[in-house]
Amino acid sequence: MPDSYPITDHRHDVIVVGAGGAGLRATFGIAEQNLSVGCITKVFPTRSHTVAAQGGVSAALGNMGLDDWRWHMYDTVKGSDWLGDQDSIEYMVREAIPAIIELEHYGVPFSRTEEGNSYQRSFGGMTTEFGEGPPAQRTCAAADRTGHAMLHTLYQQSLKYKAEFFIEYFALDLIMDSAGACVGLMALNMDDGSIHRFHAKKVVLCTGGYGRVYFSATSAHTCTGDGGGMALRAGLPLQDMEFVQFHPTGIYGAGCLITEGARGEGGYLTNSEGEHFMERYAPSAKDLASRDVVSRSMTMEVRDGRGVGKDKDHIYLHLNHLAPEVLAERLPGISETARIFSGVDVTKEPIPVLPTCHYNMGGIPTNHHGEVVTLKDGNPDCVIPGLMAAGESACVSVHGGNRLGSNSLLDLVVFGRAVALRCGETVDKFESHRTLPNNAGDAALERLDHFRNASGGTPTAELRLKMQKSMQSHVAVFREGDVLSEGCQQLEKVYDGMADISVSDRSLVWNSDLIETLEFDNLIRQAMVTATSAANRTESRGAHAREDFPDRNDNEWMKHTLAWQEESGRVDIDYRPVHMHTLSNDIQPIPPKKRVY
Ligand code: FUM
Repeated sequence: MPDSYPITDHRHDVIVVGAGGAGLRATFGIAEQNLSVGCITKVFPTRSHTVAAQGGVSAALGNMGLDDWRWHMYDTVKGSDWLGDQDSIEYMVREAIPAIIELEHYGVPFSRTEEGNSYQRSFGGMTTEFGEGPPAQRTCAAADRTGHAMLHTLYQQSLKYKAEFFIEYFALDLIMDSAGACVGLMALNMDDGSIHRFHAKKVVLCTGGYGRVYFSATSAHTCTGDGGGMALRAGLPLQDMEFVQFHPTGIYGAGCLITEGARGEGGYLTNSEGEHFMERYAPSAKDLASRDVVSRSMTMEVRDGRGVGKDKDHIYLHLNHLAPEVLAERLPGISETARIFSGVDVTKEPIPVLPTCHYNMGGIPTNHHGEVVTLKDGNPDCVIPGLMAAGESACVSVHGGNRLGSNSLLDLVVFGRAVALRCGETVDKFESHRTLPNNAGDAALERLDHFRNASGGTPTAELRLKMQKSMQSHVAVFREGDVLSEGCQQLEKVYDGMADISVSDRSLVWNSDLIETLEFDNLIRQAMVTATSAANRTESRGAHAREDFPDRNDNEWMKHTLAWQEESGRVDIDYRPVHMHTLSNDIQPIPPKKRVY
């Protein structure tokens, strides 16, 4: 069968998969190191999901008041509920400052202060004086279209270099050799149906999150975790997948994001009694407590019968007290989104909102250089040769149990750059490539051919909907053992249902039925890993809130979950320790304490 698919071969020093913020920053950074680099992307680069990021990117620049990277580090460790690796967090928050200045120099049109510096707004969980001082203004913003501004600038930068782009190519699977090293990958050119084999010294996965496992998500329909799916099929584990972030303010019904920057500019939430209820749950930070805290508080208000609307099932976000000029200047994008998707004029009425799946803290485990790691022969930091990851597809882990808003755009530029630097240190352009195995790419083509010719009775969309509904109802903001177990069983059924999947279009050219099926295969695996990891973690930490285990249990659970998946669908679990050490003596490790806002 693989013989019936002619293959075009390519050879590069490095192949990057994905052209969002992390992928582009890695791609041109690698080209800058004088290495040959190809970037494979299933959408045109400026359509990558980074474009949808709104509120901003954090860095302790101190443009709007005193700030310090150590305070940023404290907030991030606390935000992570002490599951973040402190060496990686130190790396990220220190590198934030040069990374953002670099972005300015590249041309990102950040909003400006009167003095001409980058404007910085408040975001949830960002404080001063190690949590003791007032909120920090740390989030650099280009109005409320920061991701759009960054992505376009990064793509423009990348055009300066000799990077080769493979646009609208769908990555099928990694090629691993018998020593367990990654030596390349297979891809389908969706535009003409041709098959491509990429031979590389390093493959960098920057494929974004897998938010589309949920029914309601702020993520684009393209967020199908293709890198995570490929890693699982290659026999590699994913880390901390139980930690899924629900953004407090998705528009009720539509799920579209209303940036946390709205609360950073003074917006606040109310219940059916008109009460500014966050004052009760987080007396100090109020509406700017970290996202998991705000999402849980909103859910509790709705559960206790104080939701708004006909069905009392959502919450109001008020911006109508803010000056119309502030809304027009700082929040023009969400003003438009609210009008289109909820018919609300934000200058006059509150926006109906609800916590909505927004971000995956878990992903492909890496160290702070972006090298993929696993637990092997007792070594929890064993590097997989030839494989790297950055951005939302990776778990570095800088976000631990809960990511702070605006640390995601930061993560992708800092670690996209870190990957490029590491490639510069470790890839010798004069050294030959590792040999491709004789059967390189056969398994990927067999999988492609299997789905292309699938003639069962169940359309992919039907299975996908079942998965999304199960995740939405069983692996939600609040979790409970029996409900999680039932969710796992439902997902197993969906996975088994793939034996009867039906793909009606047999073509290889722009076959969206086939591509959605390949994406669904990536999604369902990660849904199962997420639900199983959530059922396994019998404590509450960060975004993982177990009603049957309401407390954090550092003695037993201050460790990263690693989850592998067998072809039968079965998920196997082991652990890696959390890095409690810092990278330098400029800051001491931040010891765990109770997380209150
Ligand atoms: O609310 C927002 O603008 C989202 C930011 C983020 O997820 O970092």
